[in-house]
Amino acid sequence: MLTMQEIKNHYYFSDTDAEMLKELFPLAQSSSEAMVEEFYTYLLKIPETAVFLRDPKDLARLKRTHTEWFLSLFCGRYDNEYMLTLQSIGQAHVRIKVSAHYVNAAMNVVRRFLIEMLQANFPDISVRRKYRIAVEKILDINLDIMSTSYQEEELRKVFVSH
Ligand code: HEM
Repeated sequence: MLTMQEIKNHYYFSDTDAEMLKELFPLAQSSSEAMVEEFYTYLLKIPETAVFLRDPKDLARLKRTHTEWFLSLFCGRYDNEYMLTLQSIGQAHVRIKVSAHYVNAAMNVVRRFLIEMLQANFPDISVRRKYRIAVEKILDINLDIMSTSYQEEELRKVFVSH
């Protein structure tokens, strides 16, 4: 099993990337409501994901959960504890049987949102590029760790069926 340091090395994720993400925290915080609205508008449009969001009480709680995750992208500290949290987020989706496809597609929604947020706030292309690279790396790392839970579930099924 890889450590968070090894994962970061494989993505060339540096302390500078961590600092850049931390700098974005206030902007992410002021954009989080818009992000979560876009995320849910997207999930509610697709019947296969909308089924998980039927109960309005659950919906309010889930929106908070997904907002917290969004803000954690900009926490500035990406250690083994961060990795364990992402593994358990992946496992939560495997457990309730949200297909990996929709997790990947939802991450694309977040990516597009963030790219547009940077576009609107950093007119200088060389500054924007540095933030964008850091954002892309942390999103890819998130998806990588969450996807591992799906791969482990597939392997478990293979072992059980033999
Ligand atoms: C739970 C993040 C995609 C539906 C969660 C949790 C987090 C999270 C942090 C809390 C996990 C826990 O309690 O340990 C994400 C991220 C996604 C994503 C980062 C992709 C970018 C989706 C999609 C759906 C979904 C596509 C489909 C509707 C849910 C539901 C729960 C949940 C229903 C509650 C699970 C439970 O009750 O145990 N998600 N999510 N998520 N997510 Fe997502």
